[in-house]
Amino acid sequence: MKKCNIRKNSWVLLLGKKSYVVRVKGEFQCEFGKINLEKLVGKRHGTEIKSHLGEKFIAVKPSIIDLLKKVKRKPQVILPKDASLILAKTGVNKNSIVLDAGTGSAFLAIFLSNYVKKVYSYEKRKEFYEVAKENIRMLRIKNVVLKNKDVKKGFDEREVDLITLDLENPEKIIPCVKDSLKSGGWMVVFCPFAEEVGKVVKSVEKDFTQIEIWENLQRKWEVSFDKNNNSHLRVNSFVTFTGFMVFARKK
Ligand SMILES: C[S@@+](CC[C@H](N)C(=O)[O-])C[C@H]1O[C@@H](n2cnc3c(N)ncnc32)[C@H](O)[C@@H]1O
Repeated sequence: MKKCNIRKNSWVLLLGKKSYVVRVKGEFQCEFGKINLEKLVGKRHGTEIKSHLGEKFIAVKPSIIDLLKKVKRKPQVILPKDASLILAKTGVNKNSIVLDAGTGSAFLAIFLSNYVKKVYSYEKRKEFYEVAKENIRMLRIKNVVLKNKDVKKGFDEREVDLITLDLENPEKIIPCVKDSLKSGGWMVVFCPFAEEVGKVVKSVEKDFTQIEIWENLQRKWEVSFDKNNNSHLRVNSFVTFTGFMVFARKK
């Protein structure tokens, strides 16, 4: 497979005692000193680079999860832990077409774009649409189409594989979802509040099946070793409640 060299202005992840996602241009300053990023231009990913204080970093290609750290966040975003459940439960793939509303900062749209063919994302507010547009431009994402439109007026696309809703009063959008989703396609509604869950479930009962409500709890663990090299595990941190997710499949 042809290996790509690091290009000027592209993103790299500097892996060291701490990691940083940076654009390859000029100088980058961090607590470990100054790093002349111009030295990376034309080199292979995996190249070692030192700060002026001698601290070593490896410049690797950033993943979508690394790049999402650079996204400007406006309204509340859907975190990768919840977005990943969408992939796990719906099985969308590189041939899938996705509709997403509302866009917000396009955090979810950008996450999904890494796994599917195309994401059409709808945002009614001009200021958030502009933030999302800039995020997508900055990360050079090519398969997200943004629309500055109110989804209450309906989606333009038909026969899509997945529709994600992350907006207020999602139950009011269900008729539009029904018109645009293919038979067997999935709808996923993100509900921060319990009352919304009941309203969504009521509104999909007739035309949808496999209706499930999930909350995605995660705990991070760490390991330590005693003098006999026996390992001991303990919880490092856990993510608290972020919201309910209603999954439903169109009949
Ligand atoms: C919580 S944010 C979405 C965040 C997004 N999922 C992310 O991960 O970045 C909700 C967004 O939905 C938009 N919105 C609300 N109602 C809408 C509608 N009817 N049509 C389109 N966008 C809408 C809001 O303006 C807001 O930006």
